[in-house]
Formats: sequence, C-alpha cells, structure tokens
Amino acid sequence: MSQICKMVQGQQKVKVHNKTFRLYLPEKQIREKIREIAAQIDGDLHGKEPLFMAILNGSFFFAADLLRELSFISEITFVKIASYHGTSSTGQVRNLIGVDEQVKGRHVVILEDIVDSGLTMKYLVAELEHKGAASIRIATLLLKPDALKEPIHPHYVCFSVPNDFLIGYGLDYDKMGRNLRDIYVLDAE
Ligand code: IMP
Ligand code: MG
Repeated sequence: MSQICKMVQGQQKVKVHNKTFRLYLPEKQIREKIREIAAQIDGDLHGKEPLFMAILNGSFFFAADLLRELSFISEITFVKIASYHGTSSTGQVRNLIGVDEQVKGRHVVILEDIVDSGLTMKYLVAELEHKGAASIRIATLLLKPDALKEPIHPHYVCFSVPNDFLIGYGLDYDKMGRNLRDIYVLDAE
C-alpha cells in the first residue's frame, strides 16, 4: 500500500509508493496548451462531426478538458487499452474495453495521455482502419519521441517530453497519482 501523502497543488515534490517525483509541468501551462490544441481541432474538424475516442484510463482529464474547449457539440466514446506495468512498458497490448461504436465512415480523433513506444496507438489505429474509419487523427497530451518504436505521428501534441517516467494529470505510477493536478517526473535516485 502507498503511504498516505497529502496533496498540495503546485508542491515541488511528491512521494508515491516508494518513489519521489518532482514538479515538471504546472496545471496552468497544461491547460493553456490544451486550449491551443482545441482551437486547432476546431479549425480542422468543425462540421465533420468527429468521433472522439479517449483511451482509458490515463486520458480522462485530458479528454474532459479538451472537449469542453471545443466550440462545437460533439460525441465521445471510450476504449480501454493497457500496455504498462509499474514504470515500464510490457511490450504487449491488452484490449480491456474494445471499440463498440460504429466507426465506419467517421472521422475519429483518438485522445491519449502519452504516446511512449507507440504500441498502444499502432494497435488502435489498425483496429479503426479495419473498421473503416474515414480518417484517424491522434491527439496526445504528451509524446516521448525518443521512446517511439513504431512510426506514429500524432496530429496534435501538447508537449514532447524526454524519456522519463511521469505522473499526474491522469498518468499513474502503479495506479496512484492520477489525480495530481500538475505533472511530475521521477526524481533521480
Ligand atoms: P505505449 O503503448 O508504449 O505508447 O504506451 C502508452 C501508454 O503507456 C500510455 O497510455 C500510458 O498509459 C502508459 N505510459 C507511458 N509512459 C508513461 C509514463 O511516463 N507515466 C505513466 N504512464 C505511462
Ligand atoms: Mg494510457
């Protein structure tokens, strides 16, 4: 069990389980970037009735904040895919809740918290292609370019980040820390 740790917004360091993390991206900066991305999506997809598809669990804050910044009324659905255990990718993708929506002919925008190896994304994009989506775009809060193992090119990226382990704003370390308002990076040990 994780020790009980008080959450104070903007604090410089947090401890989750046995690891210490330091402040990396404050909430204000994250929200500003999300507004910029939302404006781009508005320009690109207004009138096309896009289907937003958020990948659980990590993207739920990103999806909630992004969708409420759009100027048009839209539709969201969720899929649940997991490839991580602890602080590293397992290299295998597990599909826990699949695509149950009619995607044939739809313009799909995948919403993801972080693209790391790109395996999760490769898997979902292939499934959407197979189901006949008219177009597939990827919007991700974070991208780790140095960790990419698949040729994934997200259309919308809030922040490119180094190949370090991050928590907060939806991202977890062994199930904990998703509700931190800011994003934290694992401290050198
Ligand atoms: P990928 O399939 O390797 O691209 O992994 C993507 C998924 O791994 C993301 O949706 C996250 O759930 C998780 N992940 C990748 N990097 C991190 C991290 O730094 N912190 C927390 N979760 C991460
Ligand atoms: Mg995720």
